[in-house]
Amino acid sequence: MADDLILDVQNVTKAYDGLAVLKGIGFGLRKGETKVLIGPSGSGKSTLLRCINYLTVPDAGRIYLNGEEVLDANIDAMRARMGFVFQDFNLFSHLTVLDNVRICQIKVNGTDKETAIRRAYRELERVGLEEKANAYPAELSGGQQQRVSIARALAMDPDVLLFDEPTSALDPELTGEVVRVMQQLANEGMTMVVVTHEMSFARQAADEIIFMENGHIVEQGAPTALFKAATNERTRAFLNVIAEHG
Ligand SMILES: Nc1ncnc2c1ncn2[C@@H]1O[C@H](COP(=O)(O)OP(=O)(O)OP(=O)(O)O)[C@@H](O)[C@H]1O
Ligand SMILES: [Mg+2]
Repeated sequence: MADDLILDVQNVTKAYDGLAVLKGIGFGLRKGETKVLIGPSGSGKSTLLRCINYLTVPDAGRIYLNGEEVLDANIDAMRARMGFVFQDFNLFSHLTVLDNVRICQIKVNGTDKETAIRRAYRELERVGLEEKANAYPAELSGGQQQRVSIARALAMDPDVLLFDEPTSALDPELTGEVVRVMQQLANEGMTMVVVTHEMSFARQAADEIIFMENGHIVEQGAPTALFKAATNERTRAFLNVIAEHG
């Protein structure tokens, strides 16, 4: 494998009850790159992201993080290095915002309490929520909750951040604040894989767009090229639908 890849996904397959959902997916991600994964519902985007950190165990293929293979045997350590931001935020509802952001640093990374609190405030500031440190998730808007979830992932100092439709549970007026944070992270050189329908983000932040359909990567390329002239007919059709319906 190329040794400058942060994430190297090779020939990953997955079937559910004999039905192939991922049919040999491979892509690589260099440090500081953002790749945006798009494709119709059911094409396997979430399954792929989940396979990368073994929330779903792939049937075959290999996944390397910083040159080290992701395996059952090292999965806890590997997961600690991959931040995952879910559609539905997945915050601990009984913990304050501050505790949500500091708890994994202490429990997983063994960070001492004072350092974890300082780091938590730093990441909350980065997403514009330091004043909400003592609030509970239920007291926040969806957009704010998602930004806490991003701060929590950042506090772990991940090698790569994986986002699965981070704005699709949000009202349209709250989508922008989350997209802006993601855009800022991309500008700062974070390494990210983002499943999203936010094509403005894809245009501005993606180094490459990967179009998936029916368990395959059908086409991939720079956003300018892909938006201007997707070579694949199905990619074009998909982009047209997205353009019409947001
Ligand atoms: N746990 C599961 N058990 C059985 N089938 C599953 C499971 N998870 C996903 N699938 C199936 O795998 C296929 C791919 O699903 P996946 O969620 O990866 O698609 P997706 O591209 O993320 O779609 P969406 O855009 O709707 O989120 C679908 O046909 C889905 O029904
Ligand atoms: Mg999905």
